[in-house]
Amino acid sequence: MMRTDGDSWDIVTSVGLTALGVATFRALETVDPEPMIRDDYAAWFVEAAGEPHFVGMLADPESVGDVRRFGHFMGVRTRYFDEFFAAAWQQGVQQAVILASGLDARAYRLDWPAGAVVFEIDQPRVLEFKDQVLAEHGAVPKADRRVVAVDLRDDWPAALTAAGFDPGQPTAWSAEGLLPFLPGPAHDALFERIDALSAPGSSVATDEFSRGLALRDFADTEEKFFGSNPFGNLDVSDLLYDDTRADPGDWLSRHGWSVHITTPVDLAAAYAHPITDVPPELIDLMRQAHYVRAEKR
Ligand SMILES: C[S@@+](CC[C@H](N)C(=O)[O-])C[C@H]1O[C@@H](n2cnc3c(N)ncnc32)[C@H](O)[C@@H]1O
Repeated sequence: MMRTDGDSWDIVTSVGLTALGVATFRALETVDPEPMIRDDYAAWFVEAAGEPHFVGMLADPESVGDVRRFGHFMGVRTRYFDEFFAAAWQQGVQQAVILASGLDARAYRLDWPAGAVVFEIDQPRVLEFKDQVLAEHGAVPKADRRVVAVDLRDDWPAALTAAGFDPGQPTAWSAEGLLPFLPGPAHDALFERIDALSAPGSSVATDEFSRGLALRDFADTEEKFFGSNPFGNLDVSDLLYDDTRADPGDWLSRHGWSVHITTPVDLAAAYAHPITDVPPELIDLMRQAHYVRAEKR
């Protein structure tokens, strides 16, 4: 465990580097012969950050070999959250909060409805890097995008409210690739705060591992399968917390939200990209990763 209370990072260190990693996997998925999603912004971030491992992956996707299949996992994940937001705005929701937005370009990629406001919360140096790259490329968001630079272990609702968030309006919340990076108390507070700030008609989507899953096992199995660590020299499991925390699906259900849970394995099949060429031990572990979506009536 390399984490400490109040630690911070930029885009090429610690937890920030994981945001660059998943952006690389989205960029790889985008150039896949059968892409599940398009994220034309992801490669900009990888190039601008200049981190050799990820630049190398992108420069020569064929060299990535089996690791490239990891891109489809990101394809599944990206599509799941894309569809979550599309479903929310089809219900008339116009306010979105992307918790731990990292290099997520949804404010630019998705066709938001007129009047939509998209808040992005992450650490200051991550958002500074992101904004600098987007400005250099002259990117224009498709919604009223508002960045909220705050640590999710701190009083983020105050920062969100100061940025113009309206708790009286229904909200679509996403927490993608975030939860194990939060210590238990901040994790549990996240859901309590989402609930407190959510008007009826709000929804939330997140991904999480089953409680008790040894995250290091996941990293080890992945490395064994891929033959190399997709994140280069970074051992992501060193950055994760496995202390006690509420189960998000249970918690939301107990607080009156209507919950739907699926796994990346089932989603990949539903998205016509079934996972067929992966060792059973890795499939078993992937089945313990959950995508959780919930609506507040
Ligand atoms: C694996 S990345 C996922 C980024 C993005 N959601 C995506 O899927 O592309 C994890 C993100 O969580 C953010 N993060 C983790 N802990 C955080 C905290 N305590 N406060 C703010 N951001 C945090 C990191 O900065 C990073 O951008």
